[in-house]
Amino acid sequence: MLAIVAVGGTAVAAPKDDLATMRSRFEQRFAGVPADDYGFGTFMLNRAARSHYEDIMAFPPFLGDIERGKTLWETRFRSGRTYADCLPAGGRMIAGNYPYYQPAEDRVVTFEMALNRCRAANGEAEYRYDDRATMGVLTAYARSLSDGMRMNISIDSDGAKARYEDGKRLFYRRIGQMNFSCATCHVNNAGNVMRMETISPAIGQATHFPIFRGGDTLYTAQMRFTRCMEQVRAQPFAIGGEDFNNLEYFHAYLSNGLPLQASVYRR
Ligand code: HEC
Repeated sequence: MLAIVAVGGTAVAAPKDDLATMRSRFEQRFAGVPADDYGFGTFMLNRAARSHYEDIMAFPPFLGDIERGKTLWETRFRSGRTYADCLPAGGRMIAGNYPYYQPAEDRVVTFEMALNRCRAANGEAEYRYDDRATMGVLTAYARSLSDGMRMNISIDSDGAKARYEDGKRLFYRRIGQMNFSCATCHVNNAGNVMRMETISPAIGQATHFPIFRGGDTLYTAQMRFTRCMEQVRAQPFAIGGEDFNNLEYFHAYLSNGLPLQASVYRR
């Protein structure tokens, strides 16, 4: 039974029911795949691809990027403080709490925004959200400090629910010349092959960003969303803007309960 609550006159499922429905759909489609394997995305579905992935992860070609991120993370702001002084728990085991809804501002705050807020609060210029050499590598290291934490997105107020619903709307909205939504591929066609790529299920997709495509090109979650929108010939939203932040909030919620592992290889 789904719990249906009325919001603004339309029937809307509670987030936990959305997730339960999607989970049971994938459990049928991918019978026998352990829940924690969903974070492997496309590699959870093919043994040869998974072992190729594990070979690469044994000695990742992008270690240099993570090292550069570590240097940025450790470099003191002019104020003398660091990111670790600024974030909760010294920045450890927290990434799975992001994005979160900030009631005072009535908006979603992503992990990248939290890093930029540390910079601003300490008198430093903010990084661009699409800059691989700064924000990109910084997240490659900073998110790895939360490896093993389980995704823990909370939707605990009407404001949070409204942002979640907006993200959900964008996820299911058909766009572009191909008239596909995110769900067309990552729900309805998950496990199917498209242009030589096995499409990953939406559940588990948020656990491992940034990814290194081809082993060398860093993509944050929103950069990957951009790529998918371009593939269906839709005009991508702005990286770091409200549409993508709300979409990321909904999308991350779908991975709740799954273990994080940042900075992984993807094709
Ligand atoms: C035409 C089909 C298609 C559509 C539509 C599409 N994607 Fe994708 N997406 C792919 C393919 C193919 C890949 C690469 C294989 C994989 O990892 O699933 C991918 C990869 C991803 C990944 C990376 C998964 C990982 O583990 O590395 C994320 C996240 C993602 N898509 C999110 C989205 C979102 C959000 C939308 C809607 C804005 C969207 N996609 C729309 C086909 C699509």
